[in-house]
Amino acid sequence: MRSKSYNESLARNDIAPYMTLDGTTPPFSIPEKMESLINGVDNMNVNVYRYPEGSYVAVSDYWNCYELDPKSLLTIEDIKPKVPNATIMDKMIMLRTAHPLPEYGRNSFITFVSLASAIPEKKSSIKLIRVKTALERHEIVNIDVDRVPYMHSFGITENYAVIIAMPFFVDPIKMFKTLIALNVLEWTRVKELQYAIFFLHTLNAYEDEDDTICLDIATYNETRSMHFFDLDILLDLLARSKQPPADLRRFKLDLSKNTVAVSSFPSSSKTDLPDHLDFPVVNEKIRSNKYCFVYGIRYNTDGEDYLHMALVKKDLCTGDGDAYWSQPYTYLTEPWFIPSPEVSREDDGITPSYARHTN
Ligand SMILES: [Fe+2]
Repeated sequence: MRSKSYNESLARNDIAPYMTLDGTTPPFSIPEKMESLINGVDNMNVNVYRYPEGSYVAVSDYWNCYELDPKSLLTIEDIKPKVPNATIMDKMIMLRTAHPLPEYGRNSFITFVSLASAIPEKKSSIKLIRVKTALERHEIVNIDVDRVPYMHSFGITENYAVIIAMPFFVDPIKMFKTLIALNVLEWTRVKELQYAIFFLHTLNAYEDEDDTICLDIATYNETRSMHFFDLDILLDLLARSKQPPADLRRFKLDLSKNTVAVSSFPSSSKTDLPDHLDFPVVNEKIRSNKYCFVYGIRYNTDGEDYLHMALVKKDLCTGDGDAYWSQPYTYLTEPWFIPSPEVSREDDGITPSYARHTN
């Protein structure tokens, strides 16, 4: 993306002062940090969506987005949609998901925005938002919260959006003290919690019989993966080998009893690689429905190096359809799934991922 921060960085031959997730090395000076806070997050290079009116947008975990031309891949312009029912003070920290989800049976997407309040008298809030076009957004519901949890994705069924608040909270006061986004996130062990997870990606969610929702998540038991790209970890084989792969879990939400039951999936006798995938994709034709197959990347395939990776297919229903592909010194991008144009089996399609081979 030829974002403003990209173009300015090229022009100065240095990293232009915009907000980044972690700090820079060497760090920005105090005036540069102040400037970066004003400039905000500008690199929307996490995900690409085609919105209902036909616009193509690049998105990240920040509210704004960039429009791009799908034919030339040129960057068109940055888009700053209005946050529905938000005041100037609400707009200091506007987090949203880099994984908006299609609204069941409608020509719209659902996303959320988290507004972290730095004023003690004012509550933080999470708003569930309907995206009609890149610019047109409507509030479905506003939920006031004491603290805003970091949320990279959520779940959607025919009738419900499931927002998952892990004990990893945004502390806006810290933001103003350190001016580094990653420092505002705090993992809080909450004693009353029966089951605390860290996660980045949900697989899918659907409504089952008897008033329950099945929500599937690639889980971790701590936040180490947030620091994986620290240079001292990337360059250290031992530190890399300690990065744990994800565990796939099903959370069954009983809406009448208000309980959650956690379970895992049947394994294949041939390989356990797909049981620990992340960056999950499903056949979008079955999104929000009962399903069996998910595809993704398994890191740390052998416990020796996080960068040993495999492209995997997980059969959540029986484990019998589990499969993987890997090759030494071959690094893979996040995959996606393109279903066969004909109406056919859920797993009839192709799963491209760019592989880079290096010695
Ligand atoms: Fe993601």
